[in-house]
Amino acid sequence: MSLSTTKSIASLQAEASADDGTGLRRVLTATNLTMLGVGAIIGAGIFVLTGTAAATNAGPAIPLSFILAGLGCLFAGVCYAEFASMIPIAGSAYTYAYATLGEFVAWIIGWDLILEYLFGAATVAVGWSGHLIDFLNGLGIHLSTAFTAAPLAYNPITHHIDRVPGGVINLPAVLLVAAMSTLLVVGIKESARFNNVIVILKVAIVLLVIGFGAMYVNPANWHPFIPPNTGEFGHYGWSGVVRGAGVVFFAYIGFDAVSTAAQEAKNPQRDLPIGMLGSLAMCTVLYILMSLVMTGLVSYTKLNVPAPVVVALGAVPQLMWLRVFTDVGAILGLASVVLVMLMGQPRVFYSMARDGLLPAVFGKVHPKFKTPYVTTIVTGTVAAAVAAFFPIGLLGELVSIGTLLAFVIVCGGVWVLRVRSPEMHRPFKVAFVPLVPILGIVSCVGLMLSLPGDTWKRLIIWMVIGMVIYFLYSRSHSKLGNPVAGGRAAGD
Ligand code: ALA
Repeated sequence: MSLSTTKSIASLQAEASADDGTGLRRVLTATNLTMLGVGAIIGAGIFVLTGTAAATNAGPAIPLSFILAGLGCLFAGVCYAEFASMIPIAGSAYTYAYATLGEFVAWIIGWDLILEYLFGAATVAVGWSGHLIDFLNGLGIHLSTAFTAAPLAYNPITHHIDRVPGGVINLPAVLLVAAMSTLLVVGIKESARFNNVIVILKVAIVLLVIGFGAMYVNPANWHPFIPPNTGEFGHYGWSGVVRGAGVVFFAYIGFDAVSTAAQEAKNPQRDLPIGMLGSLAMCTVLYILMSLVMTGLVSYTKLNVPAPVVVALGAVPQLMWLRVFTDVGAILGLASVVLVMLMGQPRVFYSMARDGLLPAVFGKVHPKFKTPYVTTIVTGTVAAAVAAFFPIGLLGELVSIGTLLAFVIVCGGVWVLRVRSPEMHRPFKVAFVPLVPILGIVSCVGLMLSLPGDTWKRLIIWMVIGMVIYFLYSRSHSKLGNPVAGGRAAGD
């Protein structure tokens, strides 16, 4: 079998609609899916990175960075929506690539999605732990470093991995991952309900900050809107706006995780596009308003801190009462991001196992809970171990570059399928093909290029490891490559 052999769309659609009682349970509504999208999107990005990007890259023009990154996501989002409505399979970008670009690219994307979902969950869990520890410190409760920090930390300035004095394990991060994984094993409906509650609270808190913050904005803080470039690329000026978009892209990651719930959606053809694009639109508006308010309350130069929203509110005595809400918002916000990331990863593994590219045990569904429990437990265990002991600073930008790579492949896949099978029924259809997929590819590659060389090196190393596994294991176990085991190629 050639590396570019594709899986037929007809067989994928048959898989998606098969309901023999042993598979996942279709219980999620359009509202659930949209809430899962918002749950995954609003997190560390808005609560931390807005400040970093405003202070060091874009200045008060940070809303322009959000618009730029949001546009890249919109182009990719509509491409995701076309695929998700046509091929509502839990494997998401992995499955779309299998149907259009072949098994090898599909494997690469499946492997790449580990960066987004599993490493994303671990990274945000460590951020969550940091917010919780600060919050408890504020209440006079001090936890020992031995149980709140990994033994090693990455220093982004020296690029060294240093020992953390006294650090043994990041226990709060481990407990969060364990709790979310348990919930995900127990049920998708239960997980979605829990997520709904968190999302309502965190959006309410973001709206409170925007609403009350807007009353105290000092427009002088917005001048100059685009501070002059310092002579270095990415340090203010228009290049700063572009580099800022690369930094805040992280804030948008997650809307695509909605597509991994495809086999649990009641009406995937209609509701997956609503869930992905609805959550993306909502969060884009919130991000633009929030960043305008933050840079309006205080000079952008003061925002390069771990809790920039608190610093912005701290500039106005009348807004002090909101600070505690912001802490709570960040703690809740990051928890639901971890939940949805830990939901996405097992479902991609589940699809890969069903295709034979991973061991069959990964494709098991719990007889009572109807969740992919084996992959959920494996994902949770690995994510917890990474969050507990790993110098997590190494991973943040790797999560972004991995996600952007998946977006590029999905945009390319939509274009390929339009050329190859223009007649197929597409419940959601991207307008202006190939213009929109091309704009998606160009903007996502542009954002990838704005990330540092070290991140690229790590991405390449990760991909090489993936290719070795593919040639040592997956290629010879593929059901498509070994039809006796039940695979069907396109055109069969
Ligand atoms: N978008 C998610 C966050 O900002 C990953 O935390």
